[in-house]
Amino acid sequence: MIELVHLEKRYGDVTPLRDVSVTINDGDVISVIGPSGTGKSTLLRCINMLERPTSGQILLDGADITAPKYDLTLARRKMGMVFQSFNLFGHLTVIENLMLAPVDILKKSRQEAYDTGIALLKRVGLAGREFQYPDQLSGGQKQRVAIARTLAMDPDVILLDEPTSALDPTMVGEVQTVIRDLSRSGKTMMIVTHEMRFAREISNRVFYMDDGGIYEDGTPDQIFGSPQKELTRRFIRQLKVLELKIDSHDFDFIGAGSEIDLYCMQNDMMPRQKYHIRLAVEELVQQILLPEYEDPDIRVTVEYSPDEQTVSVSADYKGKQFDPTEAENDLALTVLKSISEDIGYTYDEKAEIQNHAVIKLA
Ligand SMILES: Nc1ncnc2c1ncn2[C@@H]1O[C@H](COP(=O)(O)OP(=O)(O)OP(=O)(O)O)[C@@H](O)[C@H]1O
Ligand SMILES: [Mg+2]
Repeated sequence: MIELVHLEKRYGDVTPLRDVSVTINDGDVISVIGPSGTGKSTLLRCINMLERPTSGQILLDGADITAPKYDLTLARRKMGMVFQSFNLFGHLTVIENLMLAPVDILKKSRQEAYDTGIALLKRVGLAGREFQYPDQLSGGQKQRVAIARTLAMDPDVILLDEPTSALDPTMVGEVQTVIRDLSRSGKTMMIVTHEMRFAREISNRVFYMDDGGIYEDGTPDQIFGSPQKELTRRFIRQLKVLELKIDSHDFDFIGAGSEIDLYCMQNDMMPRQKYHIRLAVEELVQQILLPEYEDPDIRVTVEYSPDEQTVSVSADYKGKQFDPTEAENDLALTVLKSISEDIGYTYDEKAEIQNHAVIKLA
């Protein structure tokens, strides 16, 4: 079992891990997903102490491996890491790569290390390759050797950081097959990956990383099927988001129009979609909401799903309860209805921002 307790990792003024507390159970197979730069690699590198956390603790089977007097070789024996770039020794043959650590660190006999190595090569589909050098292998084969090398130490925990992302697409499958096999072996695994379908298939748990840590932790069905939190939902559905904040009657709608144009261009949207977004913002905010609020505090969010080709424009606004579909401005309402499939409204008295209106564009 691995417990992270208020873990923090800071690099200068970047803090990818702010306050991470989580328990990883024996046998968990965890996929770690999230946008670039959210600390996925940092999390893995901290867990096996390739990076020392700036504060907090990591308990491995109850022992604090961040303690200064802890002997890290103990933790390293229990945890193996597989890197994107394989990190094999080029001057050693495949079998020597596999024998090195078991002989040096575990003090196994060369014969025993050799026999285990041969068995592992068979397991990863590379029987007969033992005397080749890494240079003679394809990327997919190298990565399978790297996985076998990790297994040669018989670790309890295997950490894999984007193990297939440096591979030619034709070789991804063979490495995934090996990892899939591993995921059924009962070992604890954490794998950083951008391959969502694969993540969903092999793991019992998913960490979505964002906003300084593990932002959402759930089963694959929860995270991929019905994420509970905003950023997770956006990431999973690969939504393109534009946000506007309107806090004055002098808001620059012309400037906002250009922002919308740019957003639509960057996301390769159709002219009709652009026109409808502009109309929706104009009618909803300028014509319907602004006249109702003396001190406006309105956040507009445009969300575009390239896969589903859907666009929604939502407004979250503070203040009195006001349902835009009951607005007196008939003309604005007629325009809104003509460009939308559905207009929803909810009011939550206890929320920080009480009013929430969503327009699903047609
Ligand atoms: N050694 C380092 N020195 C300084 N900053 C670093 C270092 N390693 C990572 N960072 C910063 O920490 C943040 C998190 O990096 P990390 O590599 O963990 O992200 P990631 O989620 O793995 O991203 P990616 O999906 O691109 O691999 C980034 O802003 C990165 O620039
Ligand atoms: Mg990374």
